[in-house]
Amino acid sequence: MASWSPLVIVRGEGNYLFDEQGRRYLDGVSSLWCNVHGHAHPRLDRALRDQLERIAHSTYLGLSHEPGIRLAAALIDVAPRGLTRVFFSDSGSTAVEIALKQSFQYWQLRGKPTKRKFLRLGDAYHGDTLGAVGVGGIELFHRVFGPLLVDSIAVPSPALDHEGAKRTLATALETRSDEIAAFVLEPLVQGAAGMLVHPPGFLKFARDQCSRYGVHLIVDEVATGFGRTGTMFACEHEGVSPDFLCLAKGISGGYLPLAATLATEEIYSAFLGDRGDLKQFFHGHTYTANPLACAVGLESLTLLREHTLANAKSLIEPVREALARVAQLPSVKGVRQCGVMAGIELRSERAFAGVEVCERIRSEGVILRPLGNVVVWMPPLSLRAEDLLLLEQATTAAL
Ligand SMILES: Cc1ncc(COP(=O)(O)O)c(C=O)c1O
Repeated sequence: MASWSPLVIVRGEGNYLFDEQGRRYLDGVSSLWCNVHGHAHPRLDRALRDQLERIAHSTYLGLSHEPGIRLAAALIDVAPRGLTRVFFSDSGSTAVEIALKQSFQYWQLRGKPTKRKFLRLGDAYHGDTLGAVGVGGIELFHRVFGPLLVDSIAVPSPALDHEGAKRTLATALETRSDEIAAFVLEPLVQGAAGMLVHPPGFLKFARDQCSRYGVHLIVDEVATGFGRTGTMFACEHEGVSPDFLCLAKGISGGYLPLAATLATEEIYSAFLGDRGDLKQFFHGHTYTANPLACAVGLESLTLLREHTLANAKSLIEPVREALARVAQLPSVKGVRQCGVMAGIELRSERAFAGVEVCERIRSEGVILRPLGNVVVWMPPLSLRAEDLLLLEQATTAAL
């Protein structure tokens, strides 16, 4: 396993990383699913430098600043209809944590304090902080941290049992909506669960059911947001507007830690009152809405709209064709794809089979990171035809 020791990366350029020996690797995991336009992008670098000349950081607690205000407006502009308020933080976990806390507090403020449980999917992953782990479906995490976690009710993943998922969700909402604050899910595809792709229609079904029974819908687009599925947000595929939208990873183009939790006007209005009413949302991180991160996020959004989103769309079919060829290999059990997110499930269920394959892929000049026995393709959305060819060839050679 010597070659699996961490590489020391010294530089990035476009879709490639360079180690201290000067070796070049395709960044096939987008530096943990966050890089959008490639590394050292001149426009993003310039936006960062320009902001640096003004100010690197000033608090967003009780004060505001131009990059934060401008990015919030730009996010509202591209987000699904009805999401008009933005709460910044700094990771995917905090984006989810904030949605959970706001939903919980909303119901208290609206005189329904019994609504304190959350519905979540089997195998769900929403981050590593306690609230996010509580609405996750990773059995190991629940075993270790169980007593510390928020109360959640599991719905089977629709990727594994669509009818069962719809039935369980509908029954829970019909019989227990007075106990349930929100249903939280990743739309279309559960990334960290191993790229489990949902059948079309589940997201819309969830929206309709939550609206019918007065339960919030929290959509976690930390992985799927900012072009990953071929649209700016995965919600667009089914015309769904959630009550909360959680964003992180690609929000800053993959440059700096930044996250946002978007909410509706109805949710925002519940928190309004005089200072002494203590209705405000009690949550704020030191680096919330860091101005450098917001400035680069704003430019990243501009680049997405100018051309990177179109490039992502144009990649979907070539990725599908490449995966179809990889699926023919005898060591491959199956392939799954949602936009420019893909999983290659190995036939081998041996522990570390995925790690060993990724180790060999690395020696072919591509960085990938497996999820169990699933090899994940999650390249920057700026991927070019020759990069995809390298990704396919390295994967095929390793398999
Ligand atoms: C869907 C989803 N939500 C939340 C998170 C947590 O994000 P972070 O690692 O930035 O806390 C992740 C991370 O992979 C994710 O994929």
